[in-house]
Amino acid sequence: MGKTLTRNKDLPIFFGEVQLKGERQQVGVEGKEKEERTLYYKHPHGELWKGNSIKWLESLEPESIDLIFADPPYNISKADWDTFESQEEYIKFSMQWIEQAARVLKPTGTLFICGFSEILADLKHPATKYFKGCRWIIWNYKNKANLGSDWGRSHESILHFRKTKNFTFNIDTIRIPYGEHTLKYPSHPQADSSQFGKGKKEKENWIPNPLGAKPKDVLEIPQDIIEVPTTCNGMHEKTPHPTQKPEELIRKIILASSNIGDTILDPFCGSGTTPVCAEQLQRKWKACDLSPEYLDWAVNRIELVEDWGIDKWIKYDFENQKRRNSIR
Ligand SMILES: C[S@@+](CC[C@H](N)C(=O)[O-])C[C@H]1O[C@@H](n2cnc3c(N)ncnc32)[C@H](O)[C@@H]1O
Repeated sequence: MGKTLTRNKDLPIFFGEVQLKGERQQVGVEGKEKEERTLYYKHPHGELWKGNSIKWLESLEPESIDLIFADPPYNISKADWDTFESQEEYIKFSMQWIEQAARVLKPTGTLFICGFSEILADLKHPATKYFKGCRWIIWNYKNKANLGSDWGRSHESILHFRKTKNFTFNIDTIRIPYGEHTLKYPSHPQADSSQFGKGKKEKENWIPNPLGAKPKDVLEIPQDIIEVPTTCNGMHEKTPHPTQKPEELIRKIILASSNIGDTILDPFCGSGTTPVCAEQLQRKWKACDLSPEYLDWAVNRIELVEDWGIDKWIKYDFENQKRRNSIR
């Protein structure tokens, strides 16, 4: 892959002037009023807003969004925005934005919420009343330094809430490489014990799907970029944001749960990983964060998005996963 898929590092310059696709808006960068919400950056495919996401969500049209990816505060005092008086206060805050998120989702829409399992466990039940279903996904990483004497953490959870039973889900776009064993014996009859073989008069041969294996609800993406310095090979996307999510993880979610031209929303966009991935995958996007500093990093990343087709992004992630599997 390497050479042909080099990522952009510099913004294009024309006669000494940086060429931007979007436009930064004239707003104060002090960010003193938490309640204020202001358009920070306008792009042909999306908008970045600065302010409190609850107020921002309240201002949006009902049933206007196809997919929401939310990586909210976890209440683990990672930064001042991640500190709440109590877990009760945190749950109260979470229910406010989740209710609004459900309101703005289209009936085919879904909401993904990231968090540590022990924190999401407090949110799942009260949030359920706004949705018609939920699956619990595990994001597994293998590259996080684990200091201290407790269990080493190698996963986070992602709740996948569905507004109705008729929600968008494109499984073929996020298939994963088959394991070696499966490929060694690719064509075989379904066992009697298989739920797919049982009850059929003639057993059908199972053959591998040419697009790859079905994705599991454990997403293995060992690029927990929180711990990896900017200069590390392959970490093109890293900013100084303390809890930045890997693009590969969000690309999978966007591909699975939206279609080209859909609108993706992120109420806590930080360094802009969701709008960046939405832009890469030809979706529209709206995002919000309290911090103008983080939004500046987001603008820079959005401007640097490569002009690749969607197939190239899928291949990029598929090949990266294959390469990681081969060196394990
Ligand atoms: C976990 S981080 C998101 C990181 C992001 N996914 C990324 O890849 O960079 C949560 C973000 O929520 C923002 N935030 C916290 N409380 C907020 C609020 N009430 N309204 C808007 N943004 C908020 C923080 O500034 C922080 O950037």
